[in-house]
Amino acid sequence: MRLFVKVLSFLLVIIFFSVHGLHNNSTEISIEPLTYRLPNDSLPLSYDLTIKTEIHRKNLNFVGNVKIHVQIQNRTKKLTLHYHGIVIDFVDLLTVNRNEMIARNLTLHKLPKFDFLIILLPREFNPNEEFILNISYHGKLTKSKLGFFYSSYLDYNNTEIYYAATQFETIYARRALPCYDEPAKKAKITLSIIHGKDYRAVANTEMISSLPFDENQDYLITKFNTTPSIQTYLLAFSISNFQYINGLNSRISQKIYANPIDIAEGKLNFAASVVGPILKGIESLLGIEYPYNKLDHLSLDLEYFGAMENIGLQIYDINEINFKVHSYDKARTNKQKLKVIRTIAHETSHQFFGDLTTPAWWNYAFLNEGFATLFESLIPSIIFPQYHQMSHFFIKNFPDAFARDTKELNSWSMNKYTENPNELWTKFNRIGYQKSGCVLRMFMEVMTQKTFIKGLKFYLNEMYWKTATPDDLHRNLQVAFDQDFPTVILNISELMSTWENQAGYPLVTVTISGSNLKFSQKRYPSGNEEIYSVPLTIATKTNPNFNHTTPKQWLLTQNATFTQSELEFNATNNDWMILNIQQVGYYRVDYDTALWQAIISQLNENHEEIHPINRAILQEEIALAWTEFNRVTACDVLNSLNYFDKEDELLAWNKADKIFDEFYTKLFTTEQFPNYLEFLNALTSPIMKNLGFDDLSDEDVHITDLRDIVKRWNCKALNSDCLNHEKLKFEYFYQLNKFDSLIDVCSARRNIKNMDKIIKEIVNNKTVIDRSEAFRNLGCALDEKEIKILLNSIRKYPDEISTKEISNIIWQTFDKSPIALQSVLDFIEEDTHEFYNLFSTSALYNFLTSVAKLIYNEPIMEQFRRILTVSFDDFTTSKNCYLSITGILNDNQKWMDKNYKNIENWFNKRQK
Ligand SMILES: *[C@@H]1O[C@H](CO)[C@@H](O)[C@H](O)[C@H]1NC(C)=O
Ligand SMILES: *[C@@H]1O[C@H](CO)[C@@H](O)[C@H](O)[C@H]1NC(C)=O
Ligand SMILES: *[C@@H]1O[C@H](CO)[C@@H](O)[C@H](O)[C@H]1NC(C)=O
Ligand SMILES: *[C@@H]1O[C@H](CO)[C@@H](O)[C@H](O)[C@H]1NC(C)=O
Ligand SMILES: *[C@@H]1O[C@H](CO)[C@@H](O)[C@H](O)[C@H]1NC(C)=O
Ligand SMILES: *[C@@H]1O[C@H](CO)[C@@H](O)[C@H](O)[C@H]1NC(C)=O
Ligand SMILES: *[C@@H]1O[C@H](CO)[C@@H](O)[C@H](O)[C@H]1NC(C)=O
Ligand SMILES: [Zn+2]
Repeated sequence: MRLFVKVLSFLLVIIFFSVHGLHNNSTEISIEPLTYRLPNDSLPLSYDLTIKTEIHRKNLNFVGNVKIHVQIQNRTKKLTLHYHGIVIDFVDLLTVNRNEMIARNLTLHKLPKFDFLIILLPREFNPNEEFILNISYHGKLTKSKLGFFYSSYLDYNNTEIYYAATQFETIYARRALPCYDEPAKKAKITLSIIHGKDYRAVANTEMISSLPFDENQDYLITKFNTTPSIQTYLLAFSISNFQYINGLNSRISQKIYANPIDIAEGKLNFAASVVGPILKGIESLLGIEYPYNKLDHLSLDLEYFGAMENIGLQIYDINEINFKVHSYDKARTNKQKLKVIRTIAHETSHQFFGDLTTPAWWNYAFLNEGFATLFESLIPSIIFPQYHQMSHFFIKNFPDAFARDTKELNSWSMNKYTENPNELWTKFNRIGYQKSGCVLRMFMEVMTQKTFIKGLKFYLNEMYWKTATPDDLHRNLQVAFDQDFPTVILNISELMSTWENQAGYPLVTVTISGSNLKFSQKRYPSGNEEIYSVPLTIATKTNPNFNHTTPKQWLLTQNATFTQSELEFNATNNDWMILNIQQVGYYRVDYDTALWQAIISQLNENHEEIHPINRAILQEEIALAWTEFNRVTACDVLNSLNYFDKEDELLAWNKADKIFDEFYTKLFTTEQFPNYLEFLNALTSPIMKNLGFDDLSDEDVHITDLRDIVKRWNCKALNSDCLNHEKLKFEYFYQLNKFDSLIDVCSARRNIKNMDKIIKEIVNNKTVIDRSEAFRNLGCALDEKEIKILLNSIRKYPDEISTKEISNIIWQTFDKSPIALQSVLDFIEEDTHEFYNLFSTSALYNFLTSVAKLIYNEPIMEQFRRILTVSFDDFTTSKNCYLSITGILNDNQKWMDKNYKNIENWFNKRQK
C-alpha cells in the first residue's frame, strides 16, 4: 500500500463515523472478549463468493452470498467471523460434499465494537469436522473509498458515470463480505460478479466466463478463476465501463484499466510502457517468478491510499499513475515519470513482499512496507539508472524517518504490537515505511547487496504462500551470509532486532582520546539507555575508500575504543575521518571539534575526496554540531559552505539548502546581510554558469533539480542575470495567460519601476480577472520608493482594495527584503490600531510571530517591541501571545550574542 500524507488523520475519522450493520435476527452480546483477534477454534478453507451490483444504474445496493468452507480446530458450539456495515439475511449450515442442509437459519449474535459476527451452531463440533457456512447478506457501496466503494467520473458529455471497486487493506474486506478478516487466516477464493451487461468486472484472477444471467439479458455473470490461498485483505474486484491498454514488453499479460477519457488521452501510456520492465526487474533481481499469469493495473479515485497491491490487480489513485507530458516544461515531466515508476515498483514488489509471503500479523507490517520502500528505489535504480532513484531514497527517507522517530513525537518500534482496529493505521506511518526501509537498506549494505538479495530469495522460497515473522527473515539472511562469508561471525537476528524492537535511533559520538578513538552511542535526542547494534563504516585520509559499506567494526555497547592505527587514522597529522559511509547506518554522528576542523579543511581543499552522500550528511551534521552540540562555531559552518562554488552534486545542495536558509533569515535585518548575499552570489554564479538558466528536455533529473536549488539562491542573492531571466520567463507566461508554479514570480518582479501604474490598473480596471494573482509579489520590489507606493495605496484606495487584499499584501511583502520589512513596520507604526483591525486575533498573532522570527537587529527590535506594546494593550486576553512573541525576540537576542561577532569577523576576513 502506498500512503498519501493526508491519510492517517482521515482514517481515524472514518473509523469513528462508520455505520454498523444490523441483521434482522440477532442480539447484541454484552460480554466483551479480551481480544480483537479471532478465536482459533475454526479456520476458513475456501470462500465461494457471489456479489450482485447495480452500479451501472447508479444504484448503490448490492447483495452477496458467500459459502465458506470451514474446518473446526477446537471443540466449539459457535463460530466468530468479521463483518461490518452489511446486513446478514440468513446463515445456513450445509454439508461439504453435496451442499445438503444441516441446519437452517442459525441464530446470530453481533459484537459491533469488535466487528464480530457470532454464529451459534446447532451442536458442538469437534476438531477436523468440516461444513459449509452459507451466508446471504446485502449492503450498500460506501462513499468512503474503503471496503466495497463507488465513485464516478465525467464522460465527454459531462455525464456522471459510476463505477465500483474495493480497498480491503487493512480491515475493510469485512465491509464487503462476512469473513475471517485477519492476515494469517488465508483461504482460496472463488468469485462471481453479477453486473450490468455494459459493464466489465475485473478481479485478482483471470475471468473464466462472462454469460447472460437473466432472461432479459440485462445482466452478465462473470466468473473468475479460484485464487490460491490468500488473505482477505488482498482480495480485490472492480465493476466499471473502463477500458484498457496492454502493458508492453511483459512476460505475462498486464492490462492497464482506466476511464475511457484517460485512456483516449494517452494518460496511461507511460505506465503501460514500464509495468513490464519493472516486473522483469524484480523477478530477475530476486530470481523468483511472479506466480500468477496476469497482473492488472487499475487507475481510479482511491482518495485515502496512493495505491494498493492486491494480488494480480493493483489499484492506483489516478494521481499516482496518470502521466501527461507538460508541453512547455519537458524537463519537469521527468519528475512525474519518476513518481509513476516509483508507485508501480512499490506495488509490484509487494506481489513478493506482502502477497507471496505475508506478515503473520500487522505488527510485522515492515516486512511489507519496509521492503516496498526499499524496492521502489532499488528496482528503478537498476532498470532506469537515469532517474537516480537511490538518491531519492536518501533525500526523502532518512529525514522523514529521523523526524518521525524521536521520543518527543512518541515514537514506537517497527515491531510494536497492536490489534485494536483504531490503532492499526499506526503501523502504516513513517516508522512502517521510511524507517523500515532505512533499516533494511542498512543491512543490505552491511551484508553486501548480493548476499542480502540471496537471503531474500531463500526467505521468499521458504515462506512461499505462507505467513512470516522477522525470525523467518533473519534466519534466511543468516544462511546466505554464512555461505558467502564463512569466516565472519555475525548474528543477523541479534543485530537486526536492536533496530526492529526498539524505537528511536542513536547519536554516535566520535572523540580523539590520546592514541585512541572513542565511539559512544546514545539514543537521540533522549531515551531509556537503548543500545543499538551500530555498524561502524569509516573512511579516513589514509584510507579514503567510500565504497566499502561493510563495517570494519561494530559498536554493540554504549562505548568502544579503537587505536588510531587500527582505523588507519593519525590525529597528529590532522587527518580527517568520516563515519557512516554513504549513510548506510540509520544513525547520526557527532564529531569532536578537532575532527570537524580536519573535515572542513578537506572540503575546502578537495571536496571530491569525500563521497557526495557524505558531503550531504555533513551539512546536516554540522548544523547539529553548531546548534545542539557546540562543537563548531558559525565561522566553521560558513567555512564548510565556502567550497560550494565547486559543489555540483544535488545531494549536497539539497542538505545545505537549510543552512543557507538559516543564515538568510538570521542575517536578514543585520548589517551583514549584503555581505551574505554577495557570498551567496559568489557561490552560486559559477554553478549557474555551468548549468545555464533553462531546463533542457533531455537532461538528467539530477541536473534539473540542482538547477532549481542553485537558481533559487542565485536569484535570492539578487544576481541580475537571474532576475532578468525570471522576468523574461514571467512575461512570456503572462502573455500565454498561464501562471506556472515553476516561475519564481518574486524574482521576476524585483525590478518593478512603475508600481503606481500597476496598482492603478488593478484598482481601476475591471478586466483584471485574478486580482489576488495581480497583487501577489508586488512586495518583492527592491526599490524603497516602489514599496512605499504599494503600502500607501492601501490608504489611498480605501474603497477599492478590500481588507482581505490588504492583509494579503502585507503578508506578501514583509519578508521579501530588509527594505520591505522596514517599510511594513513603519506602515504599522503610523497607525497601529487601524492595522490591527485588518486581522483576526489569531491571524495577527501568526503575522507578528513571523515578523519576530526575522528580527536580529537591535534598533528594529526596539521598534517592533513598541508596536507589540500597542498591540497587546488592545488584546487584554493575549498575554500569552505577547509572551510567546517576546520570547522569540529574546531567543533571537541570545543567538546574536552567541554568533554575530563571529559572523561579522568571518565576513570582514572574507572581504580582504
Ligand atoms: C429471531 O429468532 C427468534 C427465534 O430464534 C424469534 O423468536 C424472534 O422473533 C426472531 N426475531 C426477529 C426480529 O426476527
Ligand atoms: C482448544 O481449547 C482449549 C481449551 O479452551 C485450549 O487450551 C487449546 O489451546 C485450544 N486449542 C486450539 C488449537 O486452539
Ligand atoms: C429466519 O428465521 C426468522 C425467525 O425465526 C424468520 O423471520 C426468517 O424469515 C427466517 N429466514 C429464512 C430465510 O428462513
Ligand atoms: C454524447 O452524447 C451524444 C448525443 O447525445 C451521443 O451521441 C454520444 O454517444 C454521447 N457520448 C458519450 C461518450 O456518451
Ligand atoms: C568506488 O566506486 C566508484 C563507482 O563504482 C568507482 O568509480 C571508484 O573508482 C571506486 N573507488 C574506489 C576507491 O574503489
Ligand atoms: C561510556 O562513556 C561515558 C562517558 O565517556 C560514561 O559516562 C559511561 O559510563 C560509559 N558507559 C559504560 C557502559 O561504560
Ligand atoms: C602521524 O603523523 C605525524 C605528523 O605528520 C608523524 O610524525 C607520525 O609519524 C605519524 N604517525 C604514524 C603512525 O603514521
Ligand atoms: Zn506498500
